Amino acid sequence: METVILEASSPEQIRAAVSRACRFLNRGQIVALPTETVYGLAACAFNPVACASVFEAKQRPAFDPLIVHVLDKTMLNQVAEVPADIADPIDRLVSEFWPGPLTLVLPKKPEVPDIVTAGLDTVAVRCSKHPVFKAVIKEIGAPIAAPSANRFGSISPTSSSAVMSELSERIPMIIDSGACSEGMESTIVRVEASGKTKPFIHILRPGPVTVEMLKKTGKVITGKQLPPVGEKLEAPGQLASHYAPRTPLQLLEKPSDFKPQEGQRYAMLSYRGQPKDGFIDLHPWHEVEILSPGSGKMPEAAVRFFFALRKLDQCGADAIIAEPVPERGVGLAIQDRLRRASAKP
Ligand code: TXA
Ligand code: MG
Repeated sequence: METVILEASSPEQIRAAVSRACRFLNRGQIVALPTETVYGLAACAFNPVACASVFEAKQRPAFDPLIVHVLDKTMLNQVAEVPADIADPIDRLVSEFWPGPLTLVLPKKPEVPDIVTAGLDTVAVRCSKHPVFKAVIKEIGAPIAAPSANRFGSISPTSSSAVMSELSERIPMIIDSGACSEGMESTIVRVEASGKTKPFIHILRPGPVTVEMLKKTGKVITGKQLPPVGEKLEAPGQLASHYAPRTPLQLLEKPSDFKPQEGQRYAMLSYRGQPKDGFIDLHPWHEVEILSPGSGKMPEAAVRFFFALRKLDQCGADAIIAEPVPERGVGLAIQDRLRRASAKP
């Protein structure tokens, strides 16, 4: 199957691309669409056969559920049941962070096909703020299931060319709206009543909506422990090994952890490229990517992260050496992805 890339920058291009994408979706086909986090592989959420094609194109195991994207709170109520004891905090999170990079795990409505939720009784719901994605949901008039548009376990795509290198000839079209503005997948949370005013907010996957941002709504709980591969998981996609480049990646804790071997070419993924951090001058690197040059700004580092990782993966090095990133703000999400990228499958 030929994969067509449709550029969508001007309002006319957006209109044309959106209506073409909707024709595919209404026929039960799947298409790649931009969101503010990463590109997604979209299917009509209420069409189980279309959703099965998403699993097939990504080679994603059936135990790993999809995120359902909605237009607003009304559409949220078509796919999820909000329990009375967390209705207030869910309302607060929705009004503060939607549309935006926050995904809520809630009890599912029976209308959501089991294939979407991998048989779980919960569904992950997100509301993207990307104008193209919003326009598609609006025109379809129903929720869209969309995981990141990459092969299972691989690096998330933040551009149409990255989607192309992951899924070309497996999907009929990609809408190209340039680079994603966040560059990191949404934060996934589950809210639990605590019996006190503030509920527990469990972060199942760290992302652009940070611990600091969630603190005023609830007591934030982050699971630092990586779940072992294959175990039944609360966030089934949060496997220890994920987001992995093809080139082996080593995440350093400190400069002295780097032990180069004779004849090996090493590429460096640096946070801010500062000699005083002790990593950038350790070795005559084959290639270097700096996430946020100079003083180090976390959101900028997140935007460039998957792009830089993909570039180093293709530079011909034998291994990628990653400098650690401070675990504040979206740095928690970057370190989470680096740990998974470095874990052995
Ligand atoms: O930013 C994003 O969230 C992007 C864009 C395209 O929206 N989507 C994305 O989807 O990252 P995906 O499929 O690559 O990751 C979804 C994660 C997986 O780790 C999956 O296991 C988890 O969400 N998930 C889905 N449904 C769940 C549920 N009911 N309970 C817990 N985790 C769930
Ligand atoms: Mg993914």
